[in-house]
Amino acid sequence: MAEERKDTYYAEGVPLPETPQPGAQPKPWQKTNIIGKRVARVDAYERVSGSAEFPSDVVLPDMLYGAILRSPHPHARVKRIDTSGAEKADGVHAVLSDASPEANIYWPYSREIRMKLFDPLCRYEGEPVAAVAADTPHQAHDALRLIKVEYEILPFVVDERKALDQGAPSVHASGNRVTPVQVYERGDVQKGFAEADVVLEETYRTECEIHTPMEAHGCVAKWDRDRLTLWESTQGVYAIQARVAEILGLPLSKVRVIGHYMGGGFGSKLQPGKYTIIAALLARKTGRPVKLFVTREDTYLVVGNRPPANMRLKAGVKKDGKLTALYMSGIGTGGAYPAGGTSLLDWVVKELYACPNVKTELSDLYINAGPARPMRAPGHPQGAWALEQMMDALAEKIGMDPVELRLKNISLFSQSRDGNPAYTSTGLRECLVEGAKAFNWNELRKKTSADKKGHIRRGVGMASAVWFVGGGGPPSTVIVKLFSDGSVNLNMGASDIGTGTKTVMAMVVAEELGVKPDVIQIEHADTGTTQYATSSGGSKTIPTESPAVRAAAIAVKQQVLKIASEELKIPVADLTIRDGQVVSLADASKKVRIPDIAGLKRQGLLVGIGYRHPNPPDKITNPFAAQFCEVEVNMKTGEVKIVRFVGTNDSGRVMDRLTYDNQVFGGITMGIGLAMIEKRALDAGQTGKMLNRNWHDYKIPTALDVPADMVSLPIDLPDPAANTTGAKGLGEPVTIPTAAAVANAVYNATGVRVTSTPMSPVQLCELFARTTKGAKDEKAGKGR
Ligand code: MOS
Repeated sequence: MAEERKDTYYAEGVPLPETPQPGAQPKPWQKTNIIGKRVARVDAYERVSGSAEFPSDVVLPDMLYGAILRSPHPHARVKRIDTSGAEKADGVHAVLSDASPEANIYWPYSREIRMKLFDPLCRYEGEPVAAVAADTPHQAHDALRLIKVEYEILPFVVDERKALDQGAPSVHASGNRVTPVQVYERGDVQKGFAEADVVLEETYRTECEIHTPMEAHGCVAKWDRDRLTLWESTQGVYAIQARVAEILGLPLSKVRVIGHYMGGGFGSKLQPGKYTIIAALLARKTGRPVKLFVTREDTYLVVGNRPPANMRLKAGVKKDGKLTALYMSGIGTGGAYPAGGTSLLDWVVKELYACPNVKTELSDLYINAGPARPMRAPGHPQGAWALEQMMDALAEKIGMDPVELRLKNISLFSQSRDGNPAYTSTGLRECLVEGAKAFNWNELRKKTSADKKGHIRRGVGMASAVWFVGGGGPPSTVIVKLFSDGSVNLNMGASDIGTGTKTVMAMVVAEELGVKPDVIQIEHADTGTTQYATSSGGSKTIPTESPAVRAAAIAVKQQVLKIASEELKIPVADLTIRDGQVVSLADASKKVRIPDIAGLKRQGLLVGIGYRHPNPPDKITNPFAAQFCEVEVNMKTGEVKIVRFVGTNDSGRVMDRLTYDNQVFGGITMGIGLAMIEKRALDAGQTGKMLNRNWHDYKIPTALDVPADMVSLPIDLPDPAANTTGAKGLGEPVTIPTAAAVANAVYNATGVRVTSTPMSPVQLCELFARTTKGAKDEKAGKGR
């Protein structure tokens, strides 16, 4: 499945052209001054004061506002459209529909599937039908209501479990299978199950989740003659540039994309949307800048989701805890178009634990719903929901502690990749051992398992994770400039998607150049002025960019030291930079302030260029994690209170402890959302429409839903084999084990296995009632 998504987002493993590599790469850091400390964000003031300009804040002179009319039906054909009312409406400057010659543009969902921008056959609720640009947002939205559309309403299917039923409506003429069943196999699962002492089988489901970022998706589009500038809320300006240039048939040099800030993406902002293209077309038609952001309600329909997953998992284990076989079959959906509906769903099954015999079979099906987009660790939390509950059940069956069972099955190499490459580092053991210690696992587990009285029950559970990328890699080019007064400019193409990328990169420069991070001016995420970078996704931004930044800073440092060496008459090898001064290592009284270096003043500016070095050719870099959770369950109301979480991560070197912990807390919070409350509710009966498409009805976790007692415990293991800063990815592994850890804790508290998300009070009460009734029936000899 990984193979089908080899785009820039999953850049690792893709053969890349040689990157220029001037000079040898620096040795790993031994001792650091600033790396690893808790450093507040370099743009904290801008973010907190509101002076940071997000794309949705951009206001240009003469700017118009765009709005999109969308299909209210999950499956319908536009028979007739009359836009004349909108064209005459107050303040309206342009209207586009499939009838407009400017809109005769194709949107490539895949190589085979290309659809008109305003395709008359609407396959999901929210497909664009027409668009307007007007003086104000209200005029634009009012004008949409004046567009008359006659729809032929078609039968729909919005439940992937029914998409292959006899008589199910076809989303595409080819049927509802996106691809043939995707099969992975190693060893012999039949033999493996025959060798097992215990074999368990269970069905699991996770519901569809929506990304719900704080800033909606959209852009401001402006043309200067033949050059298009887009201020887009995105995770990667170069990815937007490439896609927009391709769709509009423009040279890359004529598309400038700027994205200095963005209010959350989680994978849903790795690509432009039809809204991006529509904004550009409206701007070209009117000759004025156009701002077009998707409405909050529409973000639930059209900008992606974590698709629902239906998983059957069978597992075999020996009494000594060795796994003998794993078999998973999965059914998923990316909605109405090819969008990776089962992408990476089986990855943890294939890779997390040592197991010689593994088979997975995945079916990706079309339904009449909005297309999926990658969402924080695509496929992994869903797969972990199944695998990590299964591990819990296996441990119980063979009478082994769940942590112990996992420790018995650690692999030091990648089992599912060709040639079984070794991991550059494997901190899973440390995560399990240190996490259990910090959580007080052994003692709590004994206590909760013994105490089953009363209707308030405590339980503890855990789960672990591997993330299939997270080592980053080339290409990346970074420029560091040192001005003659000692101030520094860092120029890089990467986006800071809210995770603190700018801060960490400033720390890297500060480490090498001996300046404070907050005096470093950063230019980033602008295809017009910065260097090429891949998108910030896949938890690869730090391991990709930090070695390039370090190389650029060192390139500057070498030049400064050379100039200072001539003036101080001390060899370069005996000099270093500290607190804005070049200092002799042997005699600290011999020094010169950077602004006082005459040669530097004459030069005006020193420029250092850094390139991301290639990854080791025969190894693979993945991060690991384990999480421990304590819950309190009310057996009468079905309410689960999550009391405590310990999240422990092997993400290589800790770069900024503050932003590191932020990622851990955020990932746990998002995982709690998947476990407890989030669900896209589609009306499968009458309308096929989404029932909870707003922030009120679609619940995401708030401060009250997460424990006050959350601990982030980094396993600070720098990985020198991976790259020259030793860092691995963090943002996604932190959300993989969470939901399963909660479910395992709920099982420990109640004896009830919850195999479907969300673990709502309603679902729990039903399960408790069924279990109690089952027990009573059994007592009365009624069997089952
Ligand atoms: Mo992501 S789903 O790597 O932004």
